[in-house]
Amino acid sequence: MDAVEDIKSRLSIEDVVADYMELKRAGRNLRALSPFSNEKTPSFMVSPEKQIWHDFSSGKGGNMFSFVMEMEGVDFRGALEILARKAGIDLSEYSRGDTGRSKQKARLYECLEAAARFYQLQFSKNKTALEYVLKKRKFSKATALAFRIGYSPNTGQALVEYLKGKKFTEKEIKQAGLATDRYGRLSDMFRGRVMIPLNDSTGRVVGFTARLLEDDPKAPKYINTPQTMLYDKGRQVYGLHLAKDAIRKSKFVVVVEGNLDVIASHQAGVTNVVASAGTAMTEMHLKELSRFTPDVRLAFDQDSAGLQAMERVIPLASKVNVSLSIITVPEGKDPDELIQKDPELWQRAIESYDYAVDWLMDQYEQRLDIASGAGKKAFTDALLPVVSKLQDSVERDHYIIQLAEKIGISQEALRAKLAQTTTQPKRFKQTSPQAVSPIEADMSKTQNQFLALCIMEPRLRELLTPIRTEMLHGETVQSMLRLLGQHPEANVKELIAHADKQELHDLEEYGTILTVLYEELYANLEYIELQYEAARLQVRVIEKYVKTKKAALASAMRTANDEDIEALLQEVKKLDVLLKTAKETLSGER
Ligand code: UTP
Ligand code: MN
Repeated sequence: MDAVEDIKSRLSIEDVVADYMELKRAGRNLRALSPFSNEKTPSFMVSPEKQIWHDFSSGKGGNMFSFVMEMEGVDFRGALEILARKAGIDLSEYSRGDTGRSKQKARLYECLEAAARFYQLQFSKNKTALEYVLKKRKFSKATALAFRIGYSPNTGQALVEYLKGKKFTEKEIKQAGLATDRYGRLSDMFRGRVMIPLNDSTGRVVGFTARLLEDDPKAPKYINTPQTMLYDKGRQVYGLHLAKDAIRKSKFVVVVEGNLDVIASHQAGVTNVVASAGTAMTEMHLKELSRFTPDVRLAFDQDSAGLQAMERVIPLASKVNVSLSIITVPEGKDPDELIQKDPELWQRAIESYDYAVDWLMDQYEQRLDIASGAGKKAFTDALLPVVSKLQDSVERDHYIIQLAEKIGISQEALRAKLAQTTTQPKRFKQTSPQAVSPIEADMSKTQNQFLALCIMEPRLRELLTPIRTEMLHGETVQSMLRLLGQHPEANVKELIAHADKQELHDLEEYGTILTVLYEELYANLEYIELQYEAARLQVRVIEKYVKTKKAALASAMRTANDEDIEALLQEVKKLDVLLKTAKETLSGER
């Protein structure tokens, strides 16, 4: 991962923009008053889903880097430095031999992959391990293969010797988290355990979790790879590489506690399941999941630790715009045990879920005597901090009303308490973004809207025929026009796939902006309305071009000789015809 990618994975565009202005939710997107113009209605928009911003009033837009460039008036490098600081990233780590670092990482991936193979082979030869996995845990051979279940010999150096034989250095083996120095000798980290590889979302092995074959009160049941260059437990979501397609299809994800619960669930045919594997749910976990769905359902133990965990997680989920709910696993069993009993029970369990805040309210209601004054205080002490951190004002208000009703107090009293618990609103940075001339802004607005229609509605692309590249401003915009002309049937993705390599990134981003623009402005219109709107915008593009061109010709005429004047007049005539034709087509179509 390079610095840019790393920053993008750690920060969201919402977080970055929220340092400068107040964002309000509007459907799928967030809105604010444009910092580029004086206005009363918010025309600045952020799409958390697409991780871009767009300013309708000026036509500017892009990713978090271009936003900081605009707001702080810095170049790309400057924005990179600002965002790296915000993300807590040390840029020197990347600049210093960037390729060296990625080579090093590639070696570690290979080393872990070799280890996974080694463990799998050992597993196939070890009777006790086979018996534990296939008989006791009731996993099929196919399941064991799919999840690459393995076994680590307990001799002490088996893996180290094997990897050395494969020409991995001791340093690499250590850095991969597979061995430690013990009694002055490099020894296997995992010994005599069932090995379960941990993968990143693309399926590469980044570490292992290892379970004892026989429960033993003196030894930890599970041990995991320590934090390494590749494995970060605060991010690792177990099973994502095998679950992501099912998550996309079912449009929700179930998060369980144990890795083996994931495996059991897959075997039972419920495959949109992952685990946070023993660690507390972090914002990173949620962010990672939100790449695949905004609907996250937790199937966790419901003891009091679970309550506190929920209080912590609800604000995180709200922050990354994830809708969080709770699945109640009946009879206090874990999913694996439930499935062993009857897979039907698990399938039914994931169908019934409660929204996290509702669930939390119910839990406290059951535990407290909310008829008493002390109970009401405790109830609001617990829940107000959670409710106050909900990002959506409507949702927040909904729960304030509900809290007041539930314990029979006035909303005013509750709001007064809320005001005490919430912190002061943060102050925004004072910067002055680069101003845009109104004419320039109007032009980019017009061309963006026009292209947004053409890109999303291929049938409208015939309107591009009279449009020449010089009529549009900006290289990326012009390239987009060329692509649209060359591929009249292609959708956004296909179009971008045809782009030149150097331009790919800019076009991809511009394509996304146009898509969002379309969704914001036109998604609900009938085709006939789109047709008219596109024709109207086409005329505006031509009109603006004709105007500026004529102004240029007029100033040229002032210094031209007779012969040249004749030519210039011809030019003006052509422009008039061009505009007249466009206007006639427009009125003809209505
Ligand atoms: P549990 O004790 O509920 O284990 O711990 P489990 O998932 O049911 O495991 P089995 O079914 O007995 O094999 C929940 C999770 O906490 C982590 C593991 O990720 C486990 O899945 N854990 C537990 C550890 O990391 N270390 C431990 O010693 C125990
Ligand atoms: Mn279990």
